[in-house]
Amino acid sequence: MSMARQFEALARMAKGSYAWLNLRSISTTPSSLMPEASPSPAATAKPPNMKNFNIYRWDPDHNSKPHMQTYSINTNECGPMVLDALIKIKNEMDPSLTFRRSCREGICGSCAMNIDGCNGLACLTKISSDASSEIPITPLPHMFVVKDLVVDMTNFYSQYKSIEPWLKTKNPPVEQGKEYLQSKKDRLKLDGMYECILCACCSTSCPSYWWNPEKYLGPASLLQAHRCSLIQCSKDSNIFARIFFGYFQLVGDILIFTSIWKTS
Ligand code: SF4
Ligand code: FES
Repeated sequence: MSMARQFEALARMAKGSYAWLNLRSISTTPSSLMPEASPSPAATAKPPNMKNFNIYRWDPDHNSKPHMQTYSINTNECGPMVLDALIKIKNEMDPSLTFRRSCREGICGSCAMNIDGCNGLACLTKISSDASSEIPITPLPHMFVVKDLVVDMTNFYSQYKSIEPWLKTKNPPVEQGKEYLQSKKDRLKLDGMYECILCACCSTSCPSYWWNPEKYLGPASLLQAHRCSLIQCSKDSNIFARIFFGYFQLVGDILIFTSIWKTS
């Protein structure tokens, strides 16, 4: 490759990484100032692609019952994800619509909601291309609603806290004041465990969690407990307390489930 070509390739790579950095900087903008993902000029030139979003509304400050409200927007004028549509509705039609969002790229877990009957992240869920269908959006199921699509996560977080998701060790690190090192082999065991972003989509779609949220920790916390056990396995002796705790939870859940099964 000639020198000129190499420079051209480097310039293209730099441009690509700049675009990525730009995206990250948008995602850290305070949520109230978050701009909509802008559609491409070609998209705005297309004929309108109207879509109805049927959204759960409830405001504790108003003495009215929860209801569903329909908003119709041109999806050619916003980004491709459900969160883009919600931001467009909030910015242009109804500033009172309330929902959580932050990173806009599936990292923070705050935009979890029920979209068209399935729990998911609004920032990673594409707006359905079926023009005739309406998209219902409701809060995560079986959770107390704070306002509109915002649910009270207190119980979910206290369950997470209850498993004590941190390293407990009696052994000091090999080098005083330095981090605990992980072997590559032990690190590989964490694949599939560390990706959880605590969005609560799994727990709030679990019938056992709906029925016994005060007793059953739910899949998210149990996954985290298992992850902590794996780390502990390679680090120290507190593992037995964790394993016992996890076993106790599992047996408890089976007993609860069996008794519900028998009585139903
Ligand atoms: S394990 Fe559950 S809480 Fe964690 S990211 Fe997956 S769905 Fe969300
Ligand atoms: S906004 Fe962070 S996961 Fe959707």
